[in-house]
Amino acid sequence: MKLSAPRGTKDILPQEARVYQELEKTSRQIFDAFNYHELRTPIFEDVKLFQRTLGQTTDIVQKQLLSLKSDGEDEFALRPEATASIVRAYIEHGLHLKDGFSKYYYIGPMFRGERPQKGRLRQFHHIGAEAIGSLNPYLDAELIFLSVRLIEAFGIEGYTLNINNLGCAKDKENWSKLLRSTLKNRIKNFCNLCQERFDRNVFRILDCKNEACKEELKKISLKENHICSDCQEHFAVVQEALKNLKINFKISSFLVRGLDYYTRTVFEITHASLGSQDALGAGGRYDNLISQLGGPDLSAVGFALGVERMLLANKKINETQDSIIAYFITLDKEATKKGFLLLNSLRNENISCDMNYEGASLKSQMRSANKSGAKFVIIIGEDEIKTDSVTLKDMSSGNQEKIKSNQLISELKNKI
Ligand code: HAM
Repeated sequence: MKLSAPRGTKDILPQEARVYQELEKTSRQIFDAFNYHELRTPIFEDVKLFQRTLGQTTDIVQKQLLSLKSDGEDEFALRPEATASIVRAYIEHGLHLKDGFSKYYYIGPMFRGERPQKGRLRQFHHIGAEAIGSLNPYLDAELIFLSVRLIEAFGIEGYTLNINNLGCAKDKENWSKLLRSTLKNRIKNFCNLCQERFDRNVFRILDCKNEACKEELKKISLKENHICSDCQEHFAVVQEALKNLKINFKISSFLVRGLDYYTRTVFEITHASLGSQDALGAGGRYDNLISQLGGPDLSAVGFALGVERMLLANKKINETQDSIIAYFITLDKEATKKGFLLLNSLRNENISCDMNYEGASLKSQMRSANKSGAKFVIIIGEDEIKTDSVTLKDMSSGNQEKIKSNQLISELKNKI
């Protein structure tokens, strides 16, 4: 039987793993600049956490949770996203008492049992942030700016930022009534899924991807009259702050997001090159989630970017070339013995280097050196053994010189 990785998952081979590392490194630098701190949570949680936070009627909870059962224990699920876990950890550790207003980030795998397609995996990665403990609209602008800053740092151009205002819980309730009465006589013209959504999650009809539903929606007018004045004011400040930061955005009154916890500002960053799964990342406010989970009455806002979608949107990110500083070429047994010792003394100094373990000819060792992208080649033969030296060749200029073995480290440090 031929075994392969489960459908919708992928092995990240070394060259691509390097790309992930680069994205993570850049993200961490940017999170530091914005004063966000890493919070690592388990990759599985009690299934009830997701049922209570994401909404019983959402697609994620109804169809996409990958659950784990172990004898006699509670049912667990692999995390489909991290916001719920961050809030759970925040409450569990009483972080509101210790840290007060707090800003967290996370980088890691998420799991959704979806039907795999381009840009839609069962295991994918999020780079995300959550700021808990403030209703200040400048914080919404900060998180939007932070997500745009990350996307630009990854070299992605041509993205679109859509924002919308869902209003507070009361506004959402009014809106849901308003939508139902507006759509009631037309719902038969929508797809089967939307007809189901009419009862269980009417907002999701607004972001249905079905062309016929999109056409139908164009026929109805969505006025903002369901939003209270506080929420309107809040959104006005967010927009003004984004304009001052010179961030281009579009207001999309059809942007509702697929998770129940959102209130007030929501946003999504899309890229036309991605096809039907076009969101690079998304986020928004969730002002009731912390109290809903038994925590204090605190507001919060966050986002998550999908790493695999960002890799699709900027193929150039994948061109990172792995390289090392030095490659040892040894010409006989004695030289290999000495080379192996020198190799590891360089590694003790964190100078990246390697040698060939296949007992290969000079020609094939040279080929391996080229493949490794080494900046220098260190050659040891009979003559070098006799004089306790090495030949150091600079691969870009082709210049080579003989130096004493005990000067190799300082010589290399001078050159790199
Ligand atoms: P989300 O929109 O479900 O939001 O996911 C964020 C991003 O993850 C998407 O925009 C997309 O790039 C990526 N993504 C989602 N599902 C998949 C998949 N199956 N395969 C590949 N990539 C995928 C959240 O998860 C919220 N927790 C974001 C948030 C944080 N809101 C507030 N704080």
